[in-house]
Amino acid sequence: MEVVVASNTDELAARAADLVEAYLHSAPSPVLGLATGASVQPLYRELARRHREESLSFAATRAFLLDEYVGLDPGHPQLYRNVIRRDLARQVDLDPAHLHSPDVHASDLDEECARYNRSISRARIGLQILGIGRNGHLAFNEPGSAFDSRTRVVSLTATTRADNARYFAKPDDVPRRAVTQGLGTIMGTGHVMVIALGSSKAAAVESALHGPVIEALPASILQTHPRVTVILDTHAGEAAIDSGAHG
Ligand code: GLP
Repeated sequence: MEVVVASNTDELAARAADLVEAYLHSAPSPVLGLATGASVQPLYRELARRHREESLSFAATRAFLLDEYVGLDPGHPQLYRNVIRRDLARQVDLDPAHLHSPDVHASDLDEECARYNRSISRARIGLQILGIGRNGHLAFNEPGSAFDSRTRVVSLTATTRADNARYFAKPDDVPRRAVTQGLGTIMGTGHVMVIALGSSKAAAVESALHGPVIEALPASILQTHPRVTVILDTHAGEAAIDSGAHG
């Protein structure tokens, strides 16, 4: 794993955007995996800026959402499809028809998860952008998720619901279920970029990088992926730096 510790948020966004830009230029038909969350916001803002000011184009890119809440109305501002449209897709020239997400309003959700997983396998995601949960989750693969899991419906832990409550009017509004790409699905992507910001992520990052590879810590599976870049701010990286990571 390559570990980058950025000295501030602008540098973190620039390092992450450099990686996305290099990938978009290297692949004739790029396929991106997109995460939501606070950690990826600086990256999306920087990609939007590069689109506006430096003509970075997403016209040839297809993108797949990493996860999605179950139980929100189609127009809900926190539905991840709406978040990604607002924060990235509409800020750049990504064709709306090229933004893929699981249809969480489908009548047969399990069949929809299987369909979504098949379309990801066919498309082959070249660069997967990921955050990490305080409890070491990846996407909505909570602790205990099988390393070979595929896209499926999951129940959210109390920790994750509490962490995400800041985006909702009241804590009880946070959905209890979600669709998530599986850990096995994520492991099938060509290159994984993990972004973590803030000291609340330091312990999870340190365990993911240096701890045992165990299902109790979903992000630890990344130690077995052939190509991972971890981009941290100094706070998220503090424990990992102590264990010998470098910028
Ligand atoms: C959320 C999302 C993940 C995200 C992670 C970190 O629950 N489902 O996809 O990567 O938790 O979120 P944040 O960056 O806001 O801390």
